[in-house]
Amino acid sequence: MSEAPAGTVPLIYLDHNATTPTHPLVVEALLPFLGERFGNPSSIHWAGRAVKGAVEEAREAVAELAGCEPGEVVFTGSGSEADNMAVKGVASSLRKRGNHIIATRVEHPAVANSCRYLEHGGYEVTWLDVDRDGILDPTRVEEAITERTILVTAMYANNETGVLLPVAEIGEIARRHRVPFHCDAVQALGKVPLEFRATGASLMALSAHKVYGPKGVGALVIRRGTTCHPLVHGGSQERNRRAGTENVAGIVGFGQACRLARESLADETARVCRLRDRLEEGILGRVPGARVNGHRQFRLPNTSNISFEGVTADTLLMALDLAGIAVSSGSACSSGTLRHSPVLAAMGLSPQEAGGAVRFSLGLGNTDQEIDRVLTVLPEIVERVKRGGDGREA
Ligand SMILES: Cc1ncc(COP(=O)(O)O)c(C=O)c1O
Repeated sequence: MSEAPAGTVPLIYLDHNATTPTHPLVVEALLPFLGERFGNPSSIHWAGRAVKGAVEEAREAVAELAGCEPGEVVFTGSGSEADNMAVKGVASSLRKRGNHIIATRVEHPAVANSCRYLEHGGYEVTWLDVDRDGILDPTRVEEAITERTILVTAMYANNETGVLLPVAEIGEIARRHRVPFHCDAVQALGKVPLEFRATGASLMALSAHKVYGPKGVGALVIRRGTTCHPLVHGGSQERNRRAGTENVAGIVGFGQACRLARESLADETARVCRLRDRLEEGILGRVPGARVNGHRQFRLPNTSNISFEGVTADTLLMALDLAGIAVSSGSACSSGTLRHSPVLAAMGLSPQEAGGAVRFSLGLGNTDQEIDRVLTVLPEIVERVKRGGDGREA
């Protein structure tokens, strides 16, 4: 809980799926690369050599947390870029083999809109439904595969509900049919033990700012032997996979964030899960008509998506903001547009249920005292919003 100046409210951040605060040790690790270690890693002189090793060490740290080989990690400018590269890059490289893509209806816009872009260009996309719990039946993937299928794409963990998809089963099916499988693991990295190999994925998208690293840096893991055209053409950086002088400071920060996540993963997962469950049980017990969206077991330990009856999430969100509590309605990328979440719609929620859904996503800094405060103020705020107020005390 951030210290509140007199007359103001304490600030509580429960929106870690949107972004995480950059870890102080990450800032410390990356700062020299904005200063004296300014070289271009492609330069062979002393200035270049002074940074090249740091990029490679970061690659090793990312690979270790993701369970892949360092040589399979391609640094990108974001998780979105990694998703775009996977979907468009594989589609382009396998165009002669076919034009059919299989995607779930709960993908992040970085994947979903890349698929839609390809639909306009003559590719066909089969969109797979999920059940009321947000889970995908993997046999649907097998049924949808045809001779012209060139890509299956399914996320590891959903950003809005935290629901985990059965990616190992999907990967196994895709491998049997020799179809590349792209897995968007942006929300899973650092929150659950991740094993690139065990997912059977050919490609996997990651992002630094969801794991206490800096914004504007991500990675695409590309399994050895997978064909995937580059998205950004130019120089030979990233072994010809992604042109452009590397964001060295961002990459170093990403590496440090992965090292820290690896050290704290087991303990933090248990701690955050306990806080999340206490928050959730507390809300369900205190707010009539509140219900959890998504499978209660197969989901990220930090996420709870709750529909509040008789309120619109945006009004509730603003009222909570006035009380210093930061949460989210739908994903951050779609807020600002008054469109109900396609993820919740795919799960079969009514427009009212989806319209009243708020995402609480916990992280490193959250404490029991913060959960106590939320449980004290939230039921009253919901009541006031229900009665038609803006949540402010009269
Ligand atoms: C599941 C998922 N994929 C991709 C992204 C995009 O990552 P970035 O913000 O690094 O572009 C996000 C970000 O919210 C996400 O949650």
